[in-house]
Amino acid sequence: MKECAIDMTSYKEFASTREEQNRLLLENADRTVKRIISADSSAYGAGALDCSTKELLGLVASLSLRCDDCISYHLGRCASHGIGTDKIMEAMGIACLVGGTITVPHLRRAVGTWLEILQGRSGVPLEPALPVIGPEDPGIGYDPEKRLQAVCDLLHESVPRFDWVGFYLVDPASEGILRLGPFAGKPTEHVRIAFGRGICGQAASAGTTITVDDVSLEPGYLSCSSSVRSEIVVPVFHQGRLAGELDIDSDTPAAFSAEDRKFLEHIAEVCSGAVAQAASMAPGGIDEKHV
Ligand code: SME
Repeated sequence: MKECAIDMTSYKEFASTREEQNRLLLENADRTVKRIISADSSAYGAGALDCSTKELLGLVASLSLRCDDCISYHLGRCASHGIGTDKIMEAMGIACLVGGTITVPHLRRAVGTWLEILQGRSGVPLEPALPVIGPEDPGIGYDPEKRLQAVCDLLHESVPRFDWVGFYLVDPASEGILRLGPFAGKPTEHVRIAFGRGICGQAASAGTTITVDDVSLEPGYLSCSSSVRSEIVVPVFHQGRLAGELDIDSDTPAAFSAEDRKFLEHIAEVCSGAVAQAASMAPGGIDEKHV
């Protein structure tokens, strides 16, 4: 999805106004209203249908009944469940089919709201303009380490949930070893990781992104800091070969959604040349302590 030129504060305003008005409603409402509202909350909990499916049902019902407040609310809930844009768009298709073309103005607003939510959540545009990656930035030039450092700093500063952002580079001098490259956040003792070890090593062996919602439940997890709750590791490929990884730790549980994964995989793709160059410059030798 492309960038959104809509006022980015409107969804946030909606969400905070809704919360405040809900509080006033619950303070003043009679028993019937209170019971209906509490039934509404419990109805969306997991049962035979999981929470994500229920939110999508809520979204379709709200769209076909043309309630913009309910639509925005369910879009926000869908985003917290990590539902991807593809599913939201299919749900909108059903709503339009059922509700008819009179729902189209609501679909238009819903798409705008969805983009706002995604961009607000990531804190960076989904189609990132990361000039720091390109050689055109005179301050950074062609130095691949500097360019990767700039990417780490940008992600770390822009997204509060990204508490540690770093690259691991495949060491050409030591087979099956990842070496710590540029990073932003606290220093880590895991400066060399063997393929297969920890989340990083597993992602390298599998060659696929690994998202861990709760690191305490992950066997083999290599802890960098006791405050970390969740992690995502995105392999970076260059010319079909693994060149390194983008690793992000968060102190927030389940911090990484399906949209974050898509976004970070895009970043990994854009950075692949710099990662390969930086990896080829990696010094050899294994520090056994950290392998
Ligand atoms: N947690 C990682 C180690 C790297 S740190 O997160 C920076 C792992 O289990 O591989």
